[in-house]
Amino acid sequence: MTVGECSNLPRHVAIIMDGNGRWARRRHLPRQAGHVAGVNAVREVVRAACDIGLANLTLFAFSSENWKRPAMEVGALMGLFRLYFRNDMKEIVERGARVRIIGNRTRVDPDILQMIEEAERSTLGNTGINLTFAFDYGGQEEIAAAARELARAAAEGRLDPEAITPELVSSRLFTHGLPEPDLVIRTSGERRLSNFLLWQSAYAELLFVDTLWPDFGRKEFTEALEQFSHRERRFGALPEAVA
Ligand code: IPE
Ligand code: IPE
Ligand code: MG
Repeated sequence: MTVGECSNLPRHVAIIMDGNGRWARRRHLPRQAGHVAGVNAVREVVRAACDIGLANLTLFAFSSENWKRPAMEVGALMGLFRLYFRNDMKEIVERGARVRIIGNRTRVDPDILQMIEEAERSTLGNTGINLTFAFDYGGQEEIAAAARELARAAAEGRLDPEAITPELVSSRLFTHGLPEPDLVIRTSGERRLSNFLLWQSAYAELLFVDTLWPDFGRKEFTEALEQFSHRERRFGALPEAVA
């Protein structure tokens, strides 16, 4: 079955792109080489997602904890982010994608912030895939920021605490306006979320694959969607056959 025939396409796929370092180590290359190869995988998966007609794709590019890595590696990752935006934005715009970046914007270099804002501005009216990069992103920070904002509104008398619902909290997250992910994929064999979309993934299907991110391409992405199509989602209710 091709994905074109896939009746059960997720609305939103989110990917924890992990394993660049191990990919490089296996080749006796510096970790940075793994990140370079990882960018090629990003390109291929974004193209595949557009071709398939996926509505929402979110990619975890840099976590709020990744600042703990050596300055040289952080610098290389920032450099690659710059390069990616410079080289790929034209194609992304041509494909009609709407770009968003979710994360803490106060710690990134000013020129990166400018690129982020420019990419968001120039694709604001696009109606193709919602392409979201989680960059300097941490789920706990995101939820704490939403709580802080709601607490401030309540303290100032603008919000009745009784009016705080899951929907209201969702509307204060970076991802407001996007549907919750149906499928979260993590590459490289690690089985954890590492602070990614904690609130939003409440009912996501989780798929852990052993492939290292630089080896993850169109074929692997299509296989992941195929696997998703066989999952039975219940959302706490009973399957139709039983109910
Ligand atoms: C994922 O690959 C890229 C980022 C976290 C930025 P890693 O760099 O985490 O690769 P491993 O996990 O060390 O193999
Ligand atoms: C998660 O991967 C972050 C990204 C993929 C950007 P990490 O490699 O940073 O996660 P841990 O440290 O193994 O949990
Ligand atoms: Mg890793």
